[in-house]
Amino acid sequence: MKLKNLELEATALMSEVIFGHGFAHYGYFPDGVPEVLSAEAMGRAQQAYFEKLVEVIPEGVTRVLDVGSGTGANAKALIARGLDVTCVSPSVQMNEMARAKLPDGTGVYDALFEEFESDARFDICLFAESFHYIDLEKALAQVDRYATRGMVMFDYFRRPGFAHGDGTRGTHQAFLDAVAAQGAFRIVSDEDMTDAITPTFVIHESIKNDKVAPFVTRFRAEMAREYPWRAWLMEKMLGRVLDKLNRRTGRAEKFAREHEYRLVVLERVAS
Ligand SMILES: C[S@@+](CC[C@H](N)C(=O)[O-])C[C@H]1O[C@@H](n2cnc3c(N)ncnc32)[C@H](O)[C@@H]1O
Repeated sequence: MKLKNLELEATALMSEVIFGHGFAHYGYFPDGVPEVLSAEAMGRAQQAYFEKLVEVIPEGVTRVLDVGSGTGANAKALIARGLDVTCVSPSVQMNEMARAKLPDGTGVYDALFEEFESDARFDICLFAESFHYIDLEKALAQVDRYATRGMVMFDYFRRPGFAHGDGTRGTHQAFLDAVAAQGAFRIVSDEDMTDAITPTFVIHESIKNDKVAPFVTRFRAEMAREYPWRAWLMEKMLGRVLDKLNRRTGRAEKFAREHEYRLVVLERVAS
């Protein structure tokens, strides 16, 4: 399993264990960095992200294809609000968590969106922090095939100079150009949310550096004092990884420098 997948599952697990949600997306902080940098603030911001996403789902939408559905947390909350949701995602592990929490009969497909095959059709495709994993042109072609009305995306793009060259994780401009070239959809709204998302990393770093790292440092010192041989073994196996806990990554600044996080709604152009 790739490290990025593990990191995602850890985020979802924390959301599931602490708040009972299972969100694998970042937090949304419209009022900026909160006063208290806690896991609780993070959980509230993940819920706020979901509410922001729901705000832009067009009137009258009922059938949703949740692409990159994580542990099914968004799907569960959407179903509770009366929507008919189908999930497609390649992570077998997270899909198992989704099946466990979603009502019987909810479709959860183990597939990459690019390769998803179904006769079903939906009003919209929904991408909650999942669009950037998928090849841009293939994703838009699949949205054209499956969504009768359009798509909603809450996700990040790379800023110019930081784009990946493989069709995923491109720039916002490349996305706009691809939508225009395809000609199937028009942009209804397209908001820059970067400033409201970056507090996520301030909280991550604070929990890691200010809370977990000092505890681990004390734990290592105690181990060394009381159980020198076991401590020696632990240091040999994990010492370098544990040392990293004390390093500051500056990820909030780096994220905003290299990415822009946007909430985008596309609507099918009448043919
Ligand atoms: C950051 S998580 C977001 C999960 C969920 N949407 C949420 O908001 O909690 C990204 C999700 O995209 C999925 N994913 C990655 N590549 C994908 C692909 N090619 N097609 C569909 N989903 C993909 C991952 O398995 C994961 O479920």
